[in-house]
Amino acid sequence: MKANSSEKPLTIFVCGKSNCCKKGGDKVRSKLKAAIKEAGLKREIRVVESGCLDECKNGPAVMLCPANLVFSEVRPGDVDELLEVAAAEYLSPV
Ligand code: FES
Repeated sequence: MKANSSEKPLTIFVCGKSNCCKKGGDKVRSKLKAAIKEAGLKREIRVVESGCLDECKNGPAVMLCPANLVFSEVRPGDVDELLEVAAAEYLSPV
């Protein structure tokens, strides 16, 4: 087994399960990836499709790590605000 270190300090998990996808979670994930690429932040932030984040009735759900902040009812139009929160978390002292 070989471990690879990641230089990406932030991960945004977007629920990829059916409840959230039906409500547009896949569009949120696509828009997040595009916005991160456009902002030149691909080395700092990764976007990962996740399993259920226990917000099924309020999806699409997104979790920002390592802060473990969970957002519900996320729409593609919320992507800029999500990235602002991510940047604030990244810049805040631990
Ligand atoms: S299906 Fe997305 S949070 Fe449960």
